[in-house]
Amino acid sequence: MRLALLGCGTVGAEVVRLLHEQSADLAARIGAPLEIAGIAVRRIGRDRGELPVDPALFTTDALGLIKRDDVDVVVEVVGGIEPARSWLVEALRAGKSVVTANKALLAEDGGALHDAAVEGGGDLYYEASVAGAIPLLRPLRESLHGDRITQVTGIVNGTTNFILSAMHATGAGFAEALEEATALGYAEADPTADVEGFDAAAKAAILASLAFHTRVGAADVHREGITEVTAADVASAKAMGCTIKLLCIAARSTDAQGQESVNVRVHPALIPLTHPLASVGDAFNAVFVEADAAGQLMFYGRGAGGAPTASAVLGDVVAVSRNRLAGVRSASESSYAALPVRPMGEALTRYHISLDVADRPGVLEAVAGVFARHEVSLATVRQGPAGGGNGDAVLVIVTHVAPDAALAATVDELRGLEIVRSVTSVLRVEGGF
Ligand code: NDP
Ligand code: HSE
Repeated sequence: MRLALLGCGTVGAEVVRLLHEQSADLAARIGAPLEIAGIAVRRIGRDRGELPVDPALFTTDALGLIKRDDVDVVVEVVGGIEPARSWLVEALRAGKSVVTANKALLAEDGGALHDAAVEGGGDLYYEASVAGAIPLLRPLRESLHGDRITQVTGIVNGTTNFILSAMHATGAGFAEALEEATALGYAEADPTADVEGFDAAAKAAILASLAFHTRVGAADVHREGITEVTAADVASAKAMGCTIKLLCIAARSTDAQGQESVNVRVHPALIPLTHPLASVGDAFNAVFVEADAAGQLMFYGRGAGGAPTASAVLGDVVAVSRNRLAGVRSASESSYAALPVRPMGEALTRYHISLDVADRPGVLEAVAGVFARHEVSLATVRQGPAGGGNGDAVLVIVTHVAPDAALAATVDELRGLEIVRSVTSVLRVEGGF
């Protein structure tokens, strides 16, 4: 088996190292030796430390490498949409098998890759694109194919989980926790993709597509990041026996007419400390899958880093190589269900709302009236003195489940009330609190 490696950065360098260290075992598992035909990079002269590979294999001509007749498998660990998309479509159409970790590309235009794989007859595997080392996509696309998945709830971004875990443990604010994540090498120099939820949204799209046999793209995912989460929000969550996590949620539902649809979203949410995802700390990932027959399943492990991600890449390389030797390919993309994607406003959610209000008779009635007008039912209401010593009060309200649009409209109307000094926090609540 001859392999073209596109990219030799954090993940690619570990792929090279593991291919070298485990070459005998990999050959035995595949039934043929695995050889690197070439490695495409941006800068040939970059210092790559002590990589166990012939320097003559490096090239800047990725397309030329892909097109070589002696290349069977193309491994893409470059990232981004272009030129990765053109390279992989070219490789797949030419009948090569492709292994990629590129969640951004899969969420943006996975359909084009799947179509090219069908056209060329090769495999397209992407286990490393979601939750790094955790075997998750294979269970969704194979093991659970006899079942009906109803919901996937996950912590799929290590950087934001590190930040939120630090805020919970130390009481730090967002900026301080981000600084720590950067110093420890978890957050990148530009952390936008992580803290604004783009990375998790791409992963949510991939998970939803597999779970619901429906093409879901990044644009279908409602996305909110964690930059607005404050130390006060985390303290309030703690006081209620909860913690705050950036969750990716892909849920199936059926309306009164029997029409099924899916809703896919990424946002910070309060979850009870007793929920299995609450104990996922540091930069770990975990994904909770609920299916009709299997019940609840939990997948946990390292979602990022060179070696953990390379482990998933190599698992895919073994699988596609075996297929090629046997002259078979795995089943094509399963998107037959083509379920409609419901907008966020129609998703059923619960809100936790903190308000600074005037402390005088009739305030509770006025506030409750706003909820009632939008047909939002209250689960709990707590009142305490406001911190400023100005005679105001703090109201912390948790709602029952309601359409997200009704909850958002409720908050908008509360902001306009004279007796509401400010709406200090609005967070969604998940996980059966
Ligand atoms: P890096 O930035 O560390 O490495 C990118 C590599 O791609 C480098 O070797 C770079 O070359 C090469 N490259 C960039 N542009 C080009 C180009 N135009 N032509 C040829 N080569 C190019 O990225 P990572 O290893 O961190 O990530 C790779 C992929 O894996 C991404 O899709 C990412 O989302 C995904 N992933 C990463 C994880 C992680 O923990 N890092 C976890 C899960 C998935 P050069 O070395 O010369 O700069
Ligand atoms: N930036 C991502 C994270 C890397 O923090 O989880 C893994 O996809």
